Amino acid sequence: MREMDISSDQSGQAQSQERAISKIVIIIAMQSEALPLVNRFQLTEDPHPPCGFPQGVPWVRYHGSYKDLDISLFWPGKDPTLGVDSVGTISSALVTYAAIQALKPDLIINAGTAGAFKAKGASVGDIFIISDCAFHDRRIPIPVFDLYGVGSRKAFETPNLVKELNLQVAKLSTGDSLDMTQQDESSIISNDATVKDMEGAAVAYVADLLKVPAIFVKAVTDIVDGDKPTSEEFLQNLSAVTAALDVAVEKVITFINGKSLTEL
Ligand code: ADE
Repeated sequence: MREMDISSDQSGQAQSQERAISKIVIIIAMQSEALPLVNRFQLTEDPHPPCGFPQGVPWVRYHGSYKDLDISLFWPGKDPTLGVDSVGTISSALVTYAAIQALKPDLIINAGTAGAFKAKGASVGDIFIISDCAFHDRRIPIPVFDLYGVGSRKAFETPNLVKELNLQVAKLSTGDSLDMTQQDESSIISNDATVKDMEGAAVAYVADLLKVPAIFVKAVTDIVDGDKPTSEEFLQNLSAVTAALDVAVEKVITFINGKSLTEL
């Protein structure tokens, strides 16, 4: 890029940081996490796939306006063969990519439930804003590839939001399994993560690649270093914690309304 192009690109980025945020994309992996927000913001399901979306994919967009914001919530939908939510890194990366390409949002919010460590002070029902995302199941023990595997990325910083809403901030570790092997656990510890999910670092990767700021709101359904089996604890707490997530995301969106990126 020539020098002039670089400086005009930078001044364009600075301008977009200063103007009020108007278009938000929310990425949510599970239907049960998505529907309370769809109802709260009175979003409606888009009958036509947004521009550039392939025909036949299960991805669902719910769209509407809330205060001064244009909100699109994307849910990767049900697996076409098995009929369960398409959780995990692949679906969330694909849908984040397609949503950014189609809509060019000002901000991405990845919201969802997560596990967390009581050794790091977390409890069921806690809500976290994520400062850093990394992977714990991409082990490539070759110099530099090891760092690529961990794929650590910073979330967009929101000091005012965190302060105003009195939210806890912690690091997130992402992998494609709900359970946790001993190797996963040591990687999560070396990522210094409090929170464990199945999508965050994948959304962070795509957002970083396409230069869209991304924030992460995670609600704790289960304690991964506790004595209850994770899947049981997760299913038991899913509906109550989803309600808490819904309240938290509404507060986050209301805070964002009317503000620029630099004011978050
Ligand atoms: N989502 C909810 N609980 C989780 C856990 N323990 N691990 C990964 N993702 C989760």
